[in-house]
Amino acid sequence: MLTKEQNEQLTQVGAGTPVGELLRRYWHPIAIAQELTPDRPTKFIRALGEDLVLFRDKSDRVGLIQDHCAHRGASLLYGRVEERGIACAYHGWLYDTSGSCLECPAEPAGSMFHLTVKVRAYPVQRFAGLYWMYMGPAPAPALPKYDVLARPDGRRQITVFPNLDCNWFAAAENAVDPWHLQILHQDQPRSTRRPVNTTRGYVADIEEQDFYLTSYGIMKKRVYKDGRIEEHPMIFPTHLRTGSLWLRTPIDDTHTWQVTVAFRRSDDGSLVDPTDEEPEVSYLAPVKEPADGLHPFTRFNFYAPWGQILTQDMVMWETQGLISNRPEERLAASDKGVVLLRELMFQEIEKVQRGLDPLGVIRDQNHAIIDTNLDNERGRASGIATPTVEWRAPGLEHVPAEQLASLGYNRPG
Ligand code: FES
Ligand SMILES: [Fe+2]
Repeated sequence: MLTKEQNEQLTQVGAGTPVGELLRRYWHPIAIAQELTPDRPTKFIRALGEDLVLFRDKSDRVGLIQDHCAHRGASLLYGRVEERGIACAYHGWLYDTSGSCLECPAEPAGSMFHLTVKVRAYPVQRFAGLYWMYMGPAPAPALPKYDVLARPDGRRQITVFPNLDCNWFAAAENAVDPWHLQILHQDQPRSTRRPVNTTRGYVADIEEQDFYLTSYGIMKKRVYKDGRIEEHPMIFPTHLRTGSLWLRTPIDDTHTWQVTVAFRRSDDGSLVDPTDEEPEVSYLAPVKEPADGLHPFTRFNFYAPWGQILTQDMVMWETQGLISNRPEERLAASDKGVVLLRELMFQEIEKVQRGLDPLGVIRDQNHAIIDTNLDNERGRASGIATPTVEWRAPGLEHVPAEQLASLGYNRPG
């Protein structure tokens, strides 16, 4: 159980808040790289509570700047991109990718006024088919080369989820909550077994659930009575690696963007450069009706055809509320991982407040690929079908881009 103040500390993502500042020490994915095209060179992004515009200028430089023009606040989403940057549609104030204003065309000839104008701008990198942003103090750390993102011996596949209508920390806690696998996900269609007792699910299969710290987060270790072991790293503070890498970026305090990246090794040994790779991308249909409704004023499809495990998790997160009411919860011994994560969060918040780099921040821009033990993951068999969307299952619903607006994808983020 947390106090109201502690719960706010863990969940508020804006600039100047404890977690907001912690999260601003990491690179976060914010968009699918292929979504920025010459025909559609701007995209609205809300991330960590800030409203921004991602754009690609005609010199192929990508920028991330505040949505509101410095002049009188019109949205730069509708700006015209040109060789030098993006020009606000209203009066043409032109910004480059660093946020500097290069021109205010309606000002008197020879005016140097534009030199006094700057908008908020953040560094952006393209990697593994995604655009990543960094909002923290300079210099920016390295974008960590986790194996799923960086291995050159194969290709990646990205799956975009409907935005989660809940705070990011509900998903983070789920990553260190191993018992729910045996209970929540007990009745998958692909499973060859059925539990004898639906209250207990497959709890009796488990000898031990354990956790240990790694250089990049918390390893969740599940030991089965038959000797099998599963280990999934929670990559602090926002990722989880199962068979795929789960990436979650807080949109604001009550919405979260989620994508998975799956890695598939090349059959022929060919190499792929993740810095300009264009992975195959799938967009998943909403899991509730109405698609932008909130519990209890929406009905979730607990058994959505495109991935029951995936939707069941989302239902459990969203139905806790926009922000889980942790002062009212009743934690028990089996919530060891959740407690560990919260302790780690408070510890890392304090590090940031003392001016130190938090867990997993890497300064060496040329660091080696980080092995999260992905290959071993493949070797394991589970009594329960693997909870990933790693290879597109038959029936996985692919939503054509033109339908997305009607499915809630036009919402912030
Ligand atoms: S509001 Fe952007 S140039 Fe005037
Ligand atoms: Fe789950």
